Amino acid sequence: MHVRLAAGAPLQHSCDALVVPLFRGETPTGEVAALDAAVGGAIAAALAAGAIAGKLGETVYIAAPTQPFRRVLAIALGERASFEPYLLARYAGIAVRYLGRRNLKHIAVLLPDALDANPAADASFVAEGAIAGAFETSVYQKQPEKRIAVEVVDLLAGDRDRAALTRGLDRGIALGEAVNLARTLAITPANDMTPTHLAAAAERVAQAGGLSIDVLDEARARAEGMGSFLSVAAGSAQPPKLIVLTYTGDPASSERLALVGKGITFDTGGISLKPPERMEEMKYDMSGGAAVIAAMSAVAALKPKINVIGVVPATENMPGGKATKPGDIVTAMNGKTIEVINTDAEGRLILADALCYARKLGATRIVDAATLTGACVIALGHAASAAVSNDDAWAERFLNAAKPTGERYWRMPAYDDYATAMKSDIADLKNTGGRPAGTLTAAAFLKAFVDDTPWVHLDVAGTAYTDTETAWQAKGPTGTPVRAFVALVESVAGSPIVHANGATTVAAS
Ligand code: BES
Ligand code: MN
Ligand code: ZN
Repeated sequence: MHVRLAAGAPLQHSCDALVVPLFRGETPTGEVAALDAAVGGAIAAALAAGAIAGKLGETVYIAAPTQPFRRVLAIALGERASFEPYLLARYAGIAVRYLGRRNLKHIAVLLPDALDANPAADASFVAEGAIAGAFETSVYQKQPEKRIAVEVVDLLAGDRDRAALTRGLDRGIALGEAVNLARTLAITPANDMTPTHLAAAAERVAQAGGLSIDVLDEARARAEGMGSFLSVAAGSAQPPKLIVLTYTGDPASSERLALVGKGITFDTGGISLKPPERMEEMKYDMSGGAAVIAAMSAVAALKPKINVIGVVPATENMPGGKATKPGDIVTAMNGKTIEVINTDAEGRLILADALCYARKLGATRIVDAATLTGACVIALGHAASAAVSNDDAWAERFLNAAKPTGERYWRMPAYDDYATAMKSDIADLKNTGGRPAGTLTAAAFLKAFVDDTPWVHLDVAGTAYTDTETAWQAKGPTGTPVRAFVALVESVAGSPIVHANGATTVAAS
Protein backbone atom coordinates (compact mmCIF):
# COMPACT_ATOMS: atom_id res chain seq x y z
CA MET A 1 0.00 0.00 0.00
CA HIS A 2 1.11 3.49 -0.83
CA VAL A 3 0.25 6.30 1.63
CA ARG A 4 1.10 9.74 0.34
CA LEU A 5 0.49 13.41 0.93
CA ALA A 6 -1.96 14.95 -1.56
CA ALA A 7 -2.42 18.58 -2.46
CA GLY A 8 -5.46 20.55 -3.55
CA ALA A 9 -9.07 20.87 -2.50
CA PRO A 10 -10.99 17.78 -1.40
CA LEU A 11 -13.93 18.76 -3.64
CA GLN A 12 -11.67 18.52 -6.70
CA HIS A 13 -9.86 15.35 -5.64
CA SER A 14 -10.05 12.40 -8.03
CA CYS A 15 -10.27 9.04 -6.29
CA ASP A 16 -12.62 6.10 -5.68
CA ALA A 17 -13.81 7.43 -2.33
CA LEU A 18 -13.25 10.38 -0.06
CA VAL A 19 -13.20 9.71 3.68
CA VAL A 20 -14.38 12.40 6.08
CA PRO A 21 -14.58 12.57 9.89
CA LEU A 22 -17.60 13.33 12.05
CA PHE A 23 -17.71 14.13 15.75
CA ARG A 24 -20.63 13.04 17.85
CA GLY A 25 -23.40 15.58 18.17
CA GLU A 26 -21.88 18.02 15.67
CA THR A 27 -23.25 19.01 12.31
CA PRO A 28 -20.55 19.10 9.64
CA THR A 29 -18.58 22.34 9.30
CA GLY A 30 -15.83 23.60 7.00
CA GLU A 31 -14.63 21.20 4.31
CA VAL A 32 -16.96 18.43 5.45
CA ALA A 33 -19.94 20.78 5.17
CA ALA A 34 -18.82 21.81 1.67
CA LEU A 35 -18.57 18.17 0.67
CA ASP A 36 -21.94 17.41 2.18
CA ALA A 37 -23.43 20.19 0.11
CA ALA A 38 -21.87 18.60 -2.99
CA VAL A 39 -23.65 15.33 -2.21
CA GLY A 40 -27.01 16.97 -1.63
CA GLY A 41 -26.77 17.16 2.15
CA ALA A 42 -26.80 13.39 2.55
CA ILE A 43 -24.50 13.41 5.61
CA ALA A 44 -26.57 16.01 7.46
CA ALA A 45 -29.71 14.09 6.49
CA ALA A 46 -28.30 10.83 7.88
CA LEU A 47 -27.36 12.61 11.12
CA ALA A 48 -30.78 14.26 11.37
CA ALA A 49 -32.51 10.95 10.75
CA GLY A 50 -30.49 9.38 13.58
CA ALA A 51 -28.92 6.87 11.17
CA ILE A 52 -25.71 7.20 13.17
CA ALA A 53 -25.22 8.43 16.71
CA GLY A 54 -21.57 9.43 16.26
CA LYS A 55 -19.96 6.57 18.15
CA LEU A 56 -16.43 5.67 16.98
CA GLY A 57 -16.61 3.49 13.90
CA GLU A 58 -20.14 4.31 12.73
CA THR A 59 -20.28 5.12 9.03
CA VAL A 60 -22.40 6.84 6.39
CA TYR A 61 -21.60 5.74 2.83
CA ILE A 62 -22.79 7.92 -0.04
CA ALA A 63 -22.52 7.46 -3.79
CA ALA A 64 -21.47 10.59 -5.69
CA PRO A 65 -21.08 9.30 -9.24
CA THR A 66 -20.89 12.75 -10.82
CA GLN A 67 -18.15 14.03 -8.50
CA PRO A 68 -14.39 13.49 -9.05
CA PHE A 69 -14.25 11.66 -5.71
CA ARG A 70 -17.06 9.24 -6.73
CA ARG A 71 -18.09 8.26 -3.19
CA VAL A 72 -18.00 9.67 0.33
CA LEU A 73 -17.49 7.64 3.47
CA ALA A 74 -18.17 9.59 6.67
CA ILE A 75 -16.68 7.92 9.76
CA ALA A 76 -17.66 8.90 13.27
CA LEU A 77 -14.84 9.55 15.74
CA GLY A 78 -16.92 9.77 18.92
CA GLU A 79 -16.95 12.84 21.18
CA ARG A 80 -14.60 15.66 20.26
CA ALA A 81 -13.85 16.19 23.96
CA SER A 82 -12.52 12.65 24.39
CA PHE A 83 -10.66 12.55 21.09
CA GLU A 84 -7.06 11.37 21.19
CA PRO A 85 -4.71 11.48 18.20
CA TYR A 86 -4.20 7.70 18.08
CA LEU A 87 -7.87 7.42 17.10
CA LEU A 88 -6.73 8.70 13.70
CA ALA A 89 -5.07 5.30 13.22
CA ARG A 90 -8.44 3.65 13.82
CA TYR A 91 -10.15 6.18 11.55
CA ALA A 92 -7.74 5.34 8.71
CA GLY A 93 -7.95 1.62 9.47
CA ILE A 94 -11.75 1.69 9.31
CA ALA A 95 -11.58 3.54 5.99
CA VAL A 96 -9.16 1.04 4.46
CA ARG A 97 -11.08 -1.99 5.66
CA TYR A 98 -14.55 -0.66 4.79
CA LEU A 99 -13.63 0.55 1.32
CA GLY A 100 -11.02 -2.11 0.58
CA ARG A 101 -13.57 -4.84 1.22
CA ARG A 102 -15.75 -3.10 -1.37
CA ASN A 103 -12.93 -3.42 -3.86
CA LEU A 104 -11.94 0.25 -4.02
CA LYS A 105 -8.28 0.88 -4.82
CA HIS A 106 -7.68 4.60 -4.44
CA ILE A 107 -9.01 6.44 -1.42
CA ALA A 108 -8.40 9.87 0.08
CA VAL A 109 -8.59 10.63 3.78
CA LEU A 110 -9.41 14.06 5.17
CA LEU A 111 -7.85 15.06 8.51
CA PRO A 112 -10.34 16.42 11.04
CA ASP A 113 -10.19 20.20 11.41
CA ALA A 114 -8.96 21.90 14.59
CA LEU A 115 -6.48 19.10 15.32
CA ASP A 116 -3.51 20.76 13.69
CA ALA A 117 -1.55 21.00 16.93
CA ASN A 118 0.82 18.26 15.82
CA PRO A 119 0.44 17.51 12.10
CA ALA A 120 3.44 15.13 12.12
CA ALA A 121 1.75 12.95 14.72
CA ASP A 122 -1.61 13.13 12.93
CA ALA A 123 -0.05 12.06 9.63
CA SER A 124 1.87 9.29 11.37
CA PHE A 125 -1.29 7.86 12.89
CA VAL A 126 -3.12 7.97 9.56
CA ALA A 127 -0.30 6.14 7.76
CA GLU A 128 0.17 3.59 10.54
CA GLY A 129 -3.55 2.90 10.79
CA ALA A 130 -4.09 2.62 7.02
CA ILE A 131 -1.25 0.11 6.66
CA ALA A 132 -2.20 -1.88 9.76
CA GLY A 133 -5.85 -1.84 8.65
CA ALA A 134 -4.94 -3.64 5.44
CA PHE A 135 -3.56 -6.68 7.31
CA GLU A 136 -5.64 -9.82 6.85
CA THR A 137 -5.43 -13.30 8.35
CA SER A 138 -6.00 -15.18 5.07
CA VAL A 139 -2.26 -15.53 4.42
CA TYR A 140 -2.49 -19.20 3.44
CA GLN A 141 -5.64 -19.05 1.28
CA LYS A 142 -5.16 -19.58 -2.47
CA GLN A 143 -8.07 -17.25 -3.13
CA PRO A 144 -8.26 -15.11 0.00
CA GLU A 145 -11.83 -14.86 1.30
CA LYS A 146 -11.20 -11.43 2.73
CA ARG A 147 -9.19 -9.15 0.52
CA ILE A 148 -8.55 -5.48 1.06
CA ALA A 149 -8.11 -3.86 -2.34
CA VAL A 150 -6.85 -0.42 -1.29
CA GLU A 151 -3.55 0.38 -3.01
CA VAL A 152 -3.28 4.15 -2.62
CA VAL A 153 -4.24 6.36 0.32
CA ASP A 154 -4.02 10.11 -0.24
CA LEU A 155 -3.83 12.22 2.88
CA LEU A 156 -5.72 15.51 2.49
CA ALA A 157 -4.36 17.81 5.16
CA GLY A 158 -5.27 21.29 3.91
CA ASP A 159 -2.71 23.99 4.61
CA ARG A 160 -0.95 22.24 7.49
CA ASP A 161 2.87 22.26 7.61
CA ARG A 162 3.93 20.00 4.74
CA ALA A 163 7.39 19.26 6.08
CA ALA A 164 5.88 18.06 9.35
CA LEU A 165 3.23 16.04 7.52
CA THR A 166 5.85 14.35 5.35
CA ARG A 167 8.03 13.54 8.36
CA GLY A 168 4.99 12.09 10.10
CA LEU A 169 3.89 10.07 7.08
CA ASP A 170 7.35 8.52 6.69
CA ARG A 171 7.37 7.62 10.35
CA GLY A 172 3.84 6.19 10.24
CA ILE A 173 4.67 4.12 7.17
CA ALA A 174 7.76 2.65 8.86
CA LEU A 175 5.73 1.92 11.99
CA GLY A 176 2.72 0.46 10.16
CA GLU A 177 4.98 -1.81 8.14
CA ALA A 178 6.78 -2.89 11.29
CA VAL A 179 3.46 -3.64 12.99
CA ASN A 180 2.44 -5.81 10.03
CA LEU A 181 5.84 -7.54 9.94
CA ALA A 182 5.42 -8.52 13.60
CA ARG A 183 1.90 -9.79 12.81
CA THR A 184 3.05 -11.78 9.78
CA LEU A 185 5.83 -13.44 11.78
CA ALA A 186 3.41 -14.22 14.61
CA ILE A 187 0.56 -15.60 12.51
CA THR A 188 2.84 -17.91 10.52
CA PRO A 189 2.31 -21.41 11.93
CA ALA A 190 5.09 -23.07 13.87
CA ASN A 191 5.98 -25.50 11.05
CA ASP A 192 6.91 -22.47 8.93
CA MET A 193 8.18 -20.29 11.78
CA THR A 194 10.85 -22.32 13.54
CA PRO A 195 13.75 -20.61 15.35
CA THR A 196 15.68 -20.99 12.08
CA HIS A 197 12.92 -19.20 10.13
CA LEU A 198 12.73 -16.44 12.75
CA ALA A 199 16.50 -15.94 12.53
CA ALA A 200 16.22 -15.77 8.73
CA ALA A 201 13.52 -13.09 9.06
CA ALA A 202 15.81 -11.11 11.37
CA GLU A 203 18.59 -11.57 8.81
CA ARG A 204 16.36 -10.00 6.13
CA VAL A 205 15.53 -7.08 8.42
CA ALA A 206 19.24 -6.55 9.09
CA GLN A 207 20.09 -6.67 5.38
CA ALA A 208 17.32 -4.27 4.38
CA GLY A 209 17.99 -1.77 7.16
CA GLY A 210 21.77 -1.94 7.50
CA LEU A 211 21.72 -3.42 11.01
CA SER A 212 24.38 -5.76 12.38
CA ILE A 213 23.16 -9.23 13.21
CA ASP A 214 24.59 -12.10 15.20
CA VAL A 215 22.79 -15.41 15.61
CA LEU A 216 24.10 -17.67 18.36
CA ASP A 217 23.60 -21.37 17.66
CA GLU A 218 23.42 -24.04 20.33
CA ALA A 219 27.21 -24.46 20.60
CA ARG A 220 27.76 -20.73 21.13
CA ALA A 221 24.87 -20.48 23.57
CA ARG A 222 26.44 -23.35 25.54
CA ALA A 223 29.83 -21.64 25.47
CA GLU A 224 28.15 -18.53 26.91
CA GLY A 225 26.72 -20.64 29.73
CA MET A 226 23.07 -20.31 28.69
CA GLY A 227 21.93 -23.47 30.46
CA SER A 228 18.51 -22.04 31.22
CA PHE A 229 17.74 -21.16 27.58
CA LEU A 230 19.09 -24.48 26.33
CA SER A 231 17.08 -26.47 28.88
CA VAL A 232 13.92 -25.34 27.09
CA ALA A 233 15.33 -26.32 23.69
CA ALA A 234 16.35 -29.79 24.91
CA GLY A 235 13.13 -31.51 23.85
CA SER A 236 12.97 -30.01 20.37
CA ALA A 237 14.25 -31.36 17.07
CA GLN A 238 14.58 -27.74 15.90
CA PRO A 239 17.91 -26.06 16.70
CA PRO A 240 17.55 -23.02 19.01
CA LYS A 241 18.78 -19.60 17.94
CA LEU A 242 19.59 -16.54 19.99
CA ILE A 243 19.14 -13.57 17.67
CA VAL A 244 20.90 -10.24 18.26
CA LEU A 245 20.22 -7.18 16.09
CA THR A 246 22.33 -4.07 16.66
CA TYR A 247 21.56 -0.49 15.66
CA THR A 248 24.24 2.11 16.37
CA GLY A 249 22.70 5.57 15.94
CA ASP A 250 24.92 7.32 18.49
CA PRO A 251 28.42 5.85 18.29
CA ALA A 252 29.84 8.41 20.72
CA SER A 253 27.52 7.30 23.51
CA SER A 254 28.01 4.31 25.78
CA GLU A 255 24.25 4.22 26.49
CA ARG A 256 22.52 1.23 24.95
CA LEU A 257 18.82 0.37 25.09
CA ALA A 258 18.02 -3.34 24.86
CA LEU A 259 14.70 -4.66 23.55
CA VAL A 260 14.36 -8.31 24.56
CA GLY A 261 11.52 -10.52 23.31
CA LYS A 262 10.33 -14.05 24.09
CA GLY A 263 10.72 -16.18 20.97
CA ILE A 264 9.01 -19.47 21.77
CA THR A 265 7.98 -20.52 18.25
CA PHE A 266 5.65 -23.12 19.76
CA ASP A 267 4.79 -23.79 23.38
CA THR A 268 3.42 -27.28 24.01
CA GLY A 269 4.26 -26.91 27.70
CA GLY A 270 6.99 -29.54 27.35
CA ILE A 271 6.76 -32.49 29.76
CA SER A 272 4.26 -30.41 31.76
CA LEU A 273 2.13 -30.72 28.63
CA LYS A 274 -0.65 -28.21 27.99
CA PRO A 275 -4.23 -29.42 27.42
CA PRO A 276 -5.21 -29.53 23.71
CA GLU A 277 -7.84 -26.80 23.89
CA ARG A 278 -6.51 -23.69 22.10
CA MET A 279 -2.99 -25.04 22.07
CA GLU A 280 -2.76 -23.94 18.43
CA GLU A 281 -2.62 -20.37 19.72
CA MET A 282 0.80 -21.15 21.13
CA LYS A 283 2.29 -20.41 17.70
CA TYR A 284 1.88 -16.83 18.95
CA ASP A 285 4.29 -17.46 21.82
CA MET A 286 7.03 -15.70 19.84
CA SER A 287 5.03 -12.44 19.61
CA GLY A 288 7.42 -10.60 21.94
CA GLY A 289 10.39 -11.67 19.82
CA ALA A 290 8.57 -10.78 16.60
CA ALA A 291 7.87 -7.32 18.03
CA VAL A 292 11.57 -6.83 18.81
CA ILE A 293 12.63 -7.79 15.27
CA ALA A 294 9.89 -5.60 13.77
CA ALA A 295 10.66 -2.62 16.02
CA MET A 296 14.33 -2.89 15.01
CA SER A 297 13.23 -2.68 11.36
CA ALA A 298 11.39 0.58 12.11
CA VAL A 299 14.36 1.91 14.08
CA ALA A 300 16.61 1.13 11.11
CA ALA A 301 14.27 3.13 8.86
CA LEU A 302 13.82 6.07 11.26
CA LYS A 303 17.49 6.41 12.26
CA PRO A 304 17.08 8.00 15.71
CA LYS A 305 20.20 9.15 17.57
CA ILE A 306 20.49 6.26 20.02
CA ASN A 307 22.06 2.81 20.31
CA VAL A 308 19.57 -0.08 20.41
CA ILE A 309 20.04 -3.83 20.52
CA GLY A 310 17.30 -6.38 19.98
CA VAL A 311 17.74 -9.76 21.66
CA VAL A 312 15.44 -12.69 20.84
CA PRO A 313 15.97 -16.13 22.36
CA ALA A 314 14.15 -18.50 19.98
CA THR A 315 13.25 -22.13 20.55
CA GLU A 316 10.33 -24.52 20.61
CA ASN A 317 9.13 -25.94 23.94
CA MET A 318 8.52 -29.63 23.23
CA PRO A 319 8.24 -32.86 25.19
CA GLY A 320 10.49 -35.76 24.19
CA GLY A 321 13.14 -38.18 25.32
CA LYS A 322 15.69 -35.42 25.71
CA ALA A 323 13.34 -32.85 27.22
CA THR A 324 13.92 -31.19 30.57
CA LYS A 325 11.90 -32.86 33.34
CA PRO A 326 10.17 -31.28 36.33
CA GLY A 327 12.69 -31.22 39.17
CA ASP A 328 15.70 -30.84 36.87
CA ILE A 329 18.11 -28.10 37.88
CA VAL A 330 19.72 -25.87 35.28
CA THR A 331 22.28 -23.05 35.49
CA ALA A 332 21.79 -19.67 33.83
CA MET A 333 24.49 -17.47 32.32
CA ASN A 334 24.94 -15.48 35.56
CA GLY A 335 25.60 -18.70 37.49
CA LYS A 336 22.21 -18.82 39.22
CA THR A 337 20.74 -22.31 39.56
CA ILE A 338 17.07 -22.89 38.73
CA GLU A 339 14.85 -25.76 39.78
CA VAL A 340 12.44 -26.38 36.92
CA ILE A 341 9.15 -27.13 38.70
CA ASN A 342 6.97 -26.78 35.62
CA THR A 343 8.39 -27.01 32.09
CA ASP A 344 5.46 -24.89 30.88
CA ALA A 345 6.97 -21.88 32.67
CA GLU A 346 9.57 -21.78 29.89
CA GLY A 347 9.41 -18.14 28.82
CA ARG A 348 11.18 -16.92 31.94
CA LEU A 349 13.86 -19.59 31.46
CA ILE A 350 14.82 -18.37 28.00
CA LEU A 351 14.50 -14.70 29.00
CA ALA A 352 16.80 -15.22 32.00
CA ASP A 353 19.75 -15.92 29.71
CA ALA A 354 18.67 -13.34 27.14
CA LEU A 355 18.60 -10.64 29.84
CA CYS A 356 22.07 -11.69 31.05
CA TYR A 357 23.34 -11.60 27.48
CA ALA A 358 21.83 -8.15 26.83
CA ARG A 359 23.76 -6.88 29.85
CA LYS A 360 26.93 -8.58 28.61
CA LEU A 361 26.44 -6.68 25.34
CA GLY A 362 26.41 -3.43 27.31
CA ALA A 363 22.70 -2.73 27.81
CA THR A 364 22.22 0.25 30.13
CA ARG A 365 18.41 0.10 29.98
CA ILE A 366 16.20 -2.88 29.21
CA VAL A 367 12.62 -3.49 28.16
CA ASP A 368 11.43 -7.03 27.59
CA ALA A 369 8.16 -8.27 26.13
CA ALA A 370 6.71 -11.73 26.47
CA THR A 371 3.47 -13.68 26.22
CA LEU A 372 4.53 -14.86 29.63
CA THR A 373 1.57 -15.79 31.81
CA GLY A 374 -2.05 -16.87 31.51
CA ALA A 375 -2.44 -15.07 34.86
CA CYS A 376 -1.95 -11.76 33.04
CA VAL A 377 -5.04 -12.48 30.94
CA ILE A 378 -6.95 -13.21 34.17
CA ALA A 379 -5.76 -9.95 35.74
CA LEU A 380 -6.14 -7.48 32.85
CA GLY A 381 -8.04 -9.40 30.18
CA HIS A 382 -7.30 -8.26 26.66
CA ALA A 383 -7.58 -4.59 27.58
CA ALA A 384 -3.99 -3.91 28.62
CA SER A 385 -0.53 -5.38 28.97
CA ALA A 386 1.12 -5.59 32.39
CA ALA A 387 4.27 -3.57 33.06
CA VAL A 388 6.59 -4.47 35.94
CA SER A 389 9.81 -2.61 36.68
CA ASN A 390 12.75 -2.35 39.10
CA ASP A 391 13.12 1.41 38.49
CA ASP A 392 10.35 4.00 38.94
CA ALA A 393 11.90 6.63 36.69
CA TRP A 394 12.46 4.17 33.84
CA ALA A 395 8.93 2.78 34.24
CA GLU A 396 7.49 6.31 34.06
CA ARG A 397 9.57 7.00 30.99
CA PHE A 398 8.20 3.90 29.31
CA LEU A 399 4.58 4.54 30.31
CA ASN A 400 4.75 8.16 29.12
CA ALA A 401 6.21 7.15 25.78
CA ALA A 402 3.68 4.36 25.30
CA LYS A 403 0.58 6.28 26.34
CA PRO A 404 -0.09 8.25 23.15
CA THR A 405 0.42 5.17 20.93
CA GLY A 406 -2.98 3.71 21.83
CA GLU A 407 -1.39 0.51 23.19
CA ARG A 408 -2.28 0.23 26.87
CA TYR A 409 0.09 -0.72 29.70
CA TRP A 410 -0.79 -1.00 33.35
CA ARG A 411 1.95 -0.98 35.95
CA MET A 412 1.93 -3.73 38.55
CA PRO A 413 4.14 -4.01 41.65
CA ALA A 414 7.49 -5.77 42.15
CA TYR A 415 7.23 -6.45 45.90
CA ASP A 416 9.85 -8.63 47.60
CA ASP A 417 7.06 -11.08 48.46
CA TYR A 418 7.00 -12.23 44.84
CA ALA A 419 10.77 -12.85 44.86
CA THR A 420 10.37 -14.85 48.07
CA ALA A 421 7.80 -17.04 46.32
CA MET A 422 10.42 -17.93 43.68
CA LYS A 423 13.00 -19.30 46.15
CA SER A 424 13.80 -22.99 45.81
CA ASP A 425 14.77 -25.31 48.66
CA ILE A 426 17.45 -26.94 46.54
CA ALA A 427 18.52 -24.27 44.03
CA ASP A 428 18.78 -20.46 43.95
CA LEU A 429 15.41 -20.10 42.24
CA LYS A 430 12.50 -22.20 41.11
CA ASN A 431 10.61 -21.38 37.94
CA THR A 432 7.07 -21.22 39.36
CA GLY A 433 5.67 -19.48 42.40
CA GLY A 434 2.24 -21.02 42.79
CA ARG A 435 -1.17 -19.67 41.80
CA PRO A 436 -1.21 -16.25 43.47
CA ALA A 437 0.01 -13.29 41.38
CA GLY A 438 1.40 -15.47 38.59
CA THR A 439 2.35 -12.48 36.44
CA LEU A 440 4.26 -10.87 39.29
CA THR A 441 6.11 -13.96 40.48
CA ALA A 442 7.18 -14.49 36.85
CA ALA A 443 8.42 -10.87 36.77
CA ALA A 444 10.24 -11.40 40.08
CA PHE A 445 12.04 -14.35 38.49
CA LEU A 446 13.18 -12.18 35.56
CA LYS A 447 14.30 -9.44 37.94
CA ALA A 448 16.93 -11.82 39.32
CA PHE A 449 18.71 -11.60 35.93
CA VAL A 450 18.87 -7.83 35.41
CA ASP A 451 20.58 -6.79 38.66
CA ASP A 452 20.41 -2.99 38.91
CA THR A 453 19.98 -2.22 35.21
CA PRO A 454 16.79 -0.16 34.79
CA TRP A 455 14.32 -2.64 33.37
CA VAL A 456 10.65 -2.85 32.41
CA HIS A 457 8.98 -6.18 31.77
CA LEU A 458 5.86 -6.27 29.59
CA ASP A 459 3.53 -9.24 29.80
CA VAL A 460 1.61 -9.17 26.51
CA ALA A 461 -0.17 -12.53 26.90
CA GLY A 462 -3.59 -10.85 26.66
CA THR A 463 -2.78 -8.23 24.03
CA ALA A 464 -0.42 -9.74 21.44
CA TYR A 465 -3.32 -11.42 19.65
CA THR A 466 -7.09 -11.22 19.64
CA ASP A 467 -9.97 -13.38 18.52
CA THR A 468 -12.23 -10.36 18.01
CA GLU A 469 -12.23 -8.52 14.71
CA THR A 470 -12.93 -4.78 14.89
CA ALA A 471 -13.77 -2.31 12.13
CA TRP A 472 -10.10 -1.25 12.07
CA GLN A 473 -8.24 -4.47 12.90
CA ALA A 474 -8.29 -8.08 11.74
CA LYS A 475 -8.44 -10.96 14.18
CA GLY A 476 -5.17 -12.59 15.14
CA PRO A 477 -1.89 -10.87 16.02
CA THR A 478 -2.13 -7.17 16.91
CA GLY A 479 1.50 -6.06 16.61
CA THR A 480 1.62 -5.13 20.31
CA PRO A 481 4.14 -3.96 21.59
CA VAL A 482 5.78 -2.63 18.40
CA ARG A 483 4.19 0.83 18.72
CA ALA A 484 5.36 1.24 22.31
CA PHE A 485 8.85 -0.04 21.51
CA VAL A 486 9.29 2.46 18.68
CA ALA A 487 7.83 5.32 20.73
CA LEU A 488 10.20 4.46 23.60
CA VAL A 489 13.23 4.43 21.33
CA GLU A 490 12.25 7.84 19.92
CA SER A 491 11.60 9.19 23.41
CA VAL A 492 14.98 8.06 24.76
CA ALA A 493 16.64 9.41 21.62
CA GLY A 494 15.01 12.77 22.35
CA SER A 495 13.03 12.87 19.10
CA PRO A 496 9.49 11.79 19.99
CA ILE A 497 6.84 12.47 17.39
CA VAL A 498 3.93 12.17 19.77
CA HIS A 499 4.08 13.63 23.26
CA ALA A 500 2.31 12.19 26.27
CA ASN A 501 1.93 15.56 27.95
CA GLY A 502 0.09 17.14 25.07
CA ALA A 503 3.08 19.26 24.03
CA THR A 504 2.88 20.16 20.41
CA THR A 505 6.46 20.61 19.31
CA VAL A 506 8.25 18.01 17.30
CA ALA A 507 11.99 17.82 17.71
CA ALA A 508 13.86 18.22 14.45
CA SER A 509 15.51 14.99 13.41
N1 BES B 1 2.99 -18.99 26.84
C1 BES B 1 2.42 -19.27 28.09
C2 BES B 1 1.55 -18.13 28.62
C3 BES B 1 0.29 -17.83 27.85
C4 BES B 1 -0.89 -18.44 28.19
C5 BES B 1 0.30 -16.89 26.84
C6 BES B 1 -2.04 -18.13 27.50
C7 BES B 1 -0.86 -16.57 26.15
C8 BES B 1 -2.04 -17.20 26.48
C9 BES B 1 3.50 -19.54 29.13
O1 BES B 1 4.64 -20.15 28.66
C10 BES B 1 2.92 -20.45 30.15
O2 BES B 1 2.62 -21.57 29.82
N2 BES B 1 2.79 -19.96 31.37
C11 BES B 1 2.25 -20.73 32.43
C12 BES B 1 3.09 -20.49 33.66
C13 BES B 1 2.75 -21.41 34.81
C14 BES B 1 3.13 -22.84 34.47
C15 BES B 1 3.48 -20.94 36.02
C16 BES B 1 0.82 -20.26 32.66
O3 BES B 1 0.56 -19.07 32.56
O4 BES B 1 -0.02 -21.12 32.90
MN1 MN C 1 4.48 -22.26 28.64
ZN1 ZN D 1 5.08 -19.83 26.69
